[in-house]
Amino acid sequence: MSPNPSPVVIAPVVIAVDGPAAAGKGTLARRLAAELGLPYLDTGLLYRAVGRRVLDSGLDPADPAAAEAAARALEPEDLGRPGLRAPDTDAAASRVAAIPAVRAALLEFQRAFGRSRGAVLDGRDIGTVVFPDAAVKLFVTASPEARARRRWQERLARHEAVTLDAVAAEMAARDARDAGRDAAPMVAAADALPLDTTRLDAEAAYRAALEMVRQRLDAAG
Ligand code: DC
Repeated sequence: MSPNPSPVVIAPVVIAVDGPAAAGKGTLARRLAAELGLPYLDTGLLYRAVGRRVLDSGLDPADPAAAEAAARALEPEDLGRPGLRAPDTDAAASRVAAIPAVRAALLEFQRAFGRSRGAVLDGRDIGTVVFPDAAVKLFVTASPEARARRRWQERLARHEAVTLDAVAAEMAARDARDAGRDAAPMVAAADALPLDTTRLDAEAAYRAALEMVRQRLDAAG
């Protein structure tokens, strides 16, 4: 036996969790990361922080130059700005996310985050663009009605006066922008495992996701 066996190199495991808003991907991605001891990145927060920076400067999130400048100037403190989950940020994030130069500016940060120690990342294009070689890819969906109802209930809990119809309409507009844009549209990777959470509560969705991840990782050896 060799006195100095080569160390076993285990590549950092990257798990991609993509899907539309309010499908439940954030909650289950965060729990998967905690369970597997991996860092977690909510990539939507990066687009939200860029959108918020543009709004706070009084500029238009659909203006490519303003949005690119905000993306390039992004600082870690921006991820803690107030209002990142406000409805005007929802819309601004999906507008800046359609601008290729914004996506390019955020790409390297996301890759560096996942490469160092592995990670669970959730977003729209993690399995297709950011980490096309991710060990496991989940595409989490739910019916538009179920997603609108969940987001409406979250907003009522924050004491916002808003109707279910208004939330459903905003969500449909955002889905159409996220799926219809030319730059990295929201789409399931060909090798993504689909998970429909329409009839699952958060606990059941998490259990199903963990089982899928375990099976994929076991199959990969
Ligand atoms: O997941 P979220 O709702 O926080 O995302 C906010 C917006 O950012 C959403 O409209 C889509 C966009 N986004 C994206 O284009 N790519 C990602 N990887 C993550 C989010």
